[in-house]
Amino acid sequence: MKAAVVSAFDAPPRYQDFPDPTATGPDELVVDVLAAGLHPRVRSQANGSHYTTTGELPLVPGVDGVGRGPGGRLRYFVLPETTLGSMAERTVIDVRRSVVLPEGSDVLAVAAAMNPAMSSWVALRRRAEFQPGQDVLVLGATGNAGRLAVQIAKLLGAGRVVAAGRDEARLSAVGASETVPLDRVAEAADVDVVLDYVWGEPTAAAMAAVVTHRADRGKPLTWIEIGSVAGPTAAIPSAALRAARLRIIGSGQGSVTPRDIIAELPSLAEEITRGTFEINARPVALSDVEQAWAESTSTTERLVLTP
Ligand SMILES: NC(=O)c1ccc[n+]([C@@H]2O[C@H](COP(=O)([O-])OP(=O)(O)OC[C@H]3O[C@@H](n4cnc5c(N)ncnc54)[C@H](OP(=O)(O)O)[C@@H]3O)[C@@H](O)[C@H]2O)c1
Repeated sequence: MKAAVVSAFDAPPRYQDFPDPTATGPDELVVDVLAAGLHPRVRSQANGSHYTTTGELPLVPGVDGVGRGPGGRLRYFVLPETTLGSMAERTVIDVRRSVVLPEGSDVLAVAAAMNPAMSSWVALRRRAEFQPGQDVLVLGATGNAGRLAVQIAKLLGAGRVVAAGRDEARLSAVGASETVPLDRVAEAADVDVVLDYVWGEPTAAAMAAVVTHRADRGKPLTWIEIGSVAGPTAAIPSAALRAARLRIIGSGQGSVTPRDIIAELPSLAEEITRGTFEINARPVALSDVEQAWAESTSTTERLVLTP
């Protein structure tokens, strides 16, 4: 079969032949892949920088996708750590890590949105004890995950949803109750939950500003680290943890168990197939994978590879 194949971490995947997969376990199924999202997570898998990498090569990238199994059913699937990802004509899925989609579902939208949407969906439903009516601040709200986080916080009943980012023009289009430049988040200091896609220096500054400008520093504040687009480390001021009732947690593979992540797939897939969210997916043929990799990462759309 044809697949996108990574042979070196410093080179893009190439469209080439790869051995056909076979199912071995009782819960495994070979599916024809219809669509696989090119998420930041997939880029970091392909360049060896993700925290889960084992360094094994060659590998086919792709952490999730939509495919059709031998029974003809349409499924969204999430793959375990594997060297056979979803950017191939066929891959092996574990049916327990998949959800059957209604026939006629928009496969591009599902492949584009499940990964970025899961980030806030799981964070709010599995990591924070989020309650309807609470106010949410999204740091990095102009990206694919950030825009969906605004929509998901509203869907889950948030009171105010404040969108923070560095591009003010794009911020105004994300549908938040309020927007604030990333370097002025003190204006949104009284929220209950922060969904943080940024980390690095901007987060260290934002955290110091938020905790010192809260009207009531005894009011709980849950800061959830989800992404690190501005840097993998942040210098958190010690005073932030002493001067306010701040709790810093993370949400992702590991801090949320696979079982808990899988449990959230059906309800989120249902919202996506129902058309609840605004999703901007752009299909690219799998044979053009090298070209897709070379494109600068767009935060306004998600590329979806179609074998
Ligand atoms: N933990 C999880 O479960 C999970 C799941 C999915 C994604 N993620 C992570 O979430 C992050 C965002 O993913 P995505 O799909 O939304 O990516 P994306 O579509 O590429 O969006 C990136 C976002 O980061 C912003 N950004 C980039 N560099 C920045 C900087 N130096 N300072 C401030 N903002 C910056 C962009 O702002 P501009 O619009 O101004 O460029 C944009 O809002 C990634 O780190 C991804 O790995 C985590």
